[in-house]
Amino acid sequence: MSHAFDFGPLVPAGSPPPAVRWPGLAKYNFTGGNNDADEVPVDDLIAAATASLKREGRNLATYNLAHGPQGYRPLREFLVTKLKRDAGIVCSADDILLLSGSSQALDLVNAALLTRGDTVICEKDSYQSTLTRFARIGANVIGIPLDKDGMRMDALAAALADCKARGVQPKMIYTIPTVQNPTATIMPETRRAELLRLSEQHGVAVFEDDCYSDLIWSGQRPPALYAMSRAKNVVHCGSFSKSIAPALRVGFLVAPWTIMSRIMPLKTDAGSGSVEQMMLAEYCPGQFATHLPVLRKALRAKVETLMETLNEQFGTAAEFDDPRGGIFLWVKLPDTVDTMKLCQAALKQGVAINPGPEWSTDAKHAGARLRLCFASPTHQQIREGVAILAEVCAREFGVPTRSANISRAHA
Ligand SMILES: Cc1ncc(COP(=O)(O)O)c(C=O)c1O
Repeated sequence: MSHAFDFGPLVPAGSPPPAVRWPGLAKYNFTGGNNDADEVPVDDLIAAATASLKREGRNLATYNLAHGPQGYRPLREFLVTKLKRDAGIVCSADDILLLSGSSQALDLVNAALLTRGDTVICEKDSYQSTLTRFARIGANVIGIPLDKDGMRMDALAAALADCKARGVQPKMIYTIPTVQNPTATIMPETRRAELLRLSEQHGVAVFEDDCYSDLIWSGQRPPALYAMSRAKNVVHCGSFSKSIAPALRVGFLVAPWTIMSRIMPLKTDAGSGSVEQMMLAEYCPGQFATHLPVLRKALRAKVETLMETLNEQFGTAAEFDDPRGGIFLWVKLPDTVDTMKLCQAALKQGVAINPGPEWSTDAKHAGARLRLCFASPTHQQIREGVAILAEVCAREFGVPTRSANISRAHA
């Protein structure tokens, strides 16, 4: 009988814990940044893929379709036009790097700027994958509290002053200013100007993660930090994951050459997938702008179903703000609820949620909070899933005490 080779001793110290086998998607899946399956423009994408492959498929014989390491130029040119129109960003195709999702931007910017022991600043509640990346690097993370307008500038100013007093020079402020994950807040223009002023005053770089900015219900967004910066200390990333589909794996980075030239040598994958870049470059100029309002309308309808069902099932026990865009609702339950435990108990009943502590630099503050993605479940799954969640929560924590106007004590 042969024994399996033990790779364990070869794995360097400090590696992440081993993965667990994928258990499959939960029946009621409120986790992750998944999109609405009914809103993927499948037929138009088929037509775009076919047309571009027929015309330029032979270029697949050359890495990056012979468009160089920054990726397929027509897609970068579409982004130049789009970013100018929507975000006020003035840049050229040479300032854009196409990536395998904006996740790759997080890896590359971190690799270019951070090393163990560095200090980074971000919103107190933030994107889980960003927080785990910072932890893995061994960065010291300072979480800045948010209010209804995003990261609080009084708290940022105080944190920067405190760093200065301690002789600590933070490397960067990572922020999701436009439909923040998980809080869905949108930072107004005046606050953006203040953030830039503080970053310049303290010599700190800004990393603007903007992947939800196409999903504001009104279609109107404040200008990007990248657009407003005079000091040019901002790098900006975006994605087609939330506006078209996450499985495409197409994202992008916009950065001044001084830092772009340090990032590019770190992208050692010989280019991101070219078929998706060609397909998007064919699809987007004519159809992206008409697709978005349809998607936003569908997402808005879903969040209305979610808010209505939460009100019905949890009553005043579930607190949340009506989001102005995005795919997430950040929900606060009574302090007696531990959402890490709720998450495990709900999963046994087929309901998957993201517990707050995994999305925060402050586990205590987020202990009774949870994040619900409303884009991917159907309306019926939202209704059924939230009803099960309320039932599990009542059983485990005694709240909510009433659901669907029926007292649980007598139900
Ligand atoms: C804030 C934020 N940044 C980046 C990403 C990465 O997205 P992708 O790699 O699919 O572009 C996500 C995905 O959920 C996100 O929420």
